[in-house]
Amino acid sequence: MRIGIAQTRPEFGERDRNLNDTFALLSREAADLWVIPEFFASGYQFARAEEVRDLAEPVPDGSTVRALASFCRDRNCFVAAGLPEAADGVVYNSAVLVGPRGFVSVYRKIHLFGDETRWFAPGNLPFSVQDIGVARVGIMICFDHFFPEAARTLALLGADILAHPANLIIPGLAQRTMTVRALENGVFAATANRVGEESRAEKTLRYTGQSQIVAPDGTALARLSSDRVEAAVAEINPAEARNKRLTSRNDKLGDRRPEFYRT
Ligand code: ACM
Repeated sequence: MRIGIAQTRPEFGERDRNLNDTFALLSREAADLWVIPEFFASGYQFARAEEVRDLAEPVPDGSTVRALASFCRDRNCFVAAGLPEAADGVVYNSAVLVGPRGFVSVYRKIHLFGDETRWFAPGNLPFSVQDIGVARVGIMICFDHFFPEAARTLALLGADILAHPANLIIPGLAQRTMTVRALENGVFAATANRVGEESRAEKTLRYTGQSQIVAPDGTALARLSSDRVEAAVAEINPAEARNKRLTSRNDKLGDRRPEFYRT
């Protein structure tokens, strides 16, 4: 199968323009599954509660999921993408999986980062894995990379691919952790980060790019620049993620001793 990562530069609050720019980028190449950044259509750096409310959307009935569904139907592909989700009277930092037949699932970010705790409720759904036919896909969002439990839970649930929409601001950090997450769990990991700057409420955030696709042995199959809008597609065999053997006597998941992991 072909897996793609798209590295975008959204303009805060310009949802239609950001959607169009993203679809133009994805249309240059074909992939079975695209991973695109956290908050790719809304922008990330919220400054007021009203902005969060205005840009949040219901899932699956909001305009971003509808636009993604139409793109996936036209291109016969799946997309994992982040958006602010209005639900339960609060807003979650969510990511959806959408495919040729429309909405598939939603994940609500469990480990919130920095100022996100001002605007978003912590995720309240368990990690889950979806079978898209060619592979089994689990979603985690940005700062979740720092918690090995997130990737491990998705691997134990049977994920072949960790789809990781991100808005990373610390250079080089998630590139290292996600390489280890792929290696220690024997899965593919696709991180789609954004680039550019946002300067709002007297604070500037610089997004660090270097989106990457990593194989189950920890090799990078693609790594993008730190500052350009671009995409990459890699041909992968998801079956490689189902063999967890490390040596003839060792298995990456089977050798765990969870009875000793309680704290
Ligand atoms: C992050 O979780 N957006 C760094």
